[in-house]
Amino acid sequence: MQKIIMDVDTGIDDALAIAYATSLPNVELLGVTTTYGMAPVAYSYRNTSKILEYLNTNIPVYKGSEKPLVRTREYSGKIHGSDGLGETLGSVDSDTSISSKQAIDFIIEQIYKYKKDLTIIATAPLTNLAKAIVKDPEIVNMIGKVVIMGGAFITPGNVTKFAEANIMIDPEAANIVFQSNLPITLVGLDVTRKTLLTNENVEHWRKKGTKLSAFFTEFTRFYLNSYKELHPYLKGCALHDPLAVGVAVNPELVKTIPLHIKVDLEDDALGRTTEDLDRVNNFQPNTNVCIDVDADKFMKHFFKHLLQIF
Ligand code: BDR
Ligand code: CA
Repeated sequence: MQKIIMDVDTGIDDALAIAYATSLPNVELLGVTTTYGMAPVAYSYRNTSKILEYLNTNIPVYKGSEKPLVRTREYSGKIHGSDGLGETLGSVDSDTSISSKQAIDFIIEQIYKYKKDLTIIATAPLTNLAKAIVKDPEIVNMIGKVVIMGGAFITPGNVTKFAEANIMIDPEAANIVFQSNLPITLVGLDVTRKTLLTNENVEHWRKKGTKLSAFFTEFTRFYLNSYKELHPYLKGCALHDPLAVGVAVNPELVKTIPLHIKVDLEDDALGRTTEDLDRVNNFQPNTNVCIDVDADKFMKHFFKHLLQIF
């Protein structure tokens, strides 16, 4: 069994990624840590708890960071809806939710417990991971692997022409994570834009006729509609976060190259993930960057497993 922690900002594709992870027989999802991102952390926490409840699991959820390390975050509600889940759950009026432990402590504790057997999949701004590294720098040499959905190399960003959302929202945190020596695989827009879920796919889910399939169909349709508005000629919505799960459990799905990644913190290219190509410094590669994916193989695997649990 592969032991996994997911760090999420649920988020429609985070929800799909969580469901996918729980559907895999060889995965043990130890816990899900949450952070702000597409919506405030009270929403990501509530949404994640709700998703796991619908999935009929008792996997623990932990509340994490409320804001970026040095910047501020405003929420547009675009793409994922104002509640983060396609307006299916509504607002969190007073945040009375209790997390038994904070996300950062859970991450550190589990790394000490499982060491190289542990994989962290981060599909959100990297604030929780950065805080864990700052709190206990030892962890970077202990963990097995870290798979991050973020960044863009060959293709443009999705927030600016350079930057992808998870990196752009907290670039200082992302930079700490990349410079930390963690064993990172980066699943960026160059590959996630090739894995598209279509209306027809979702229609198969709906036809299962269960409470679970109805819920997932409703918020995924919201995501499909957001994509239709933004990208009228694209045939579906990108499975950013589910692909990170796919790569964590099946690394052969992607082609990677080792690069030394740093995050641009200057205003004109803020949030860009770049390599030190000038070789002014003798940097060693710190990240395996995904540059291609067997999209067909991934889509079949993802779709088959979700259909089974719906
Ligand atoms: C990332 O940002 C969010 O919209 C998605 O959940 C994904 O993690 C894609 O840039
Ligand atoms: Ca996400």
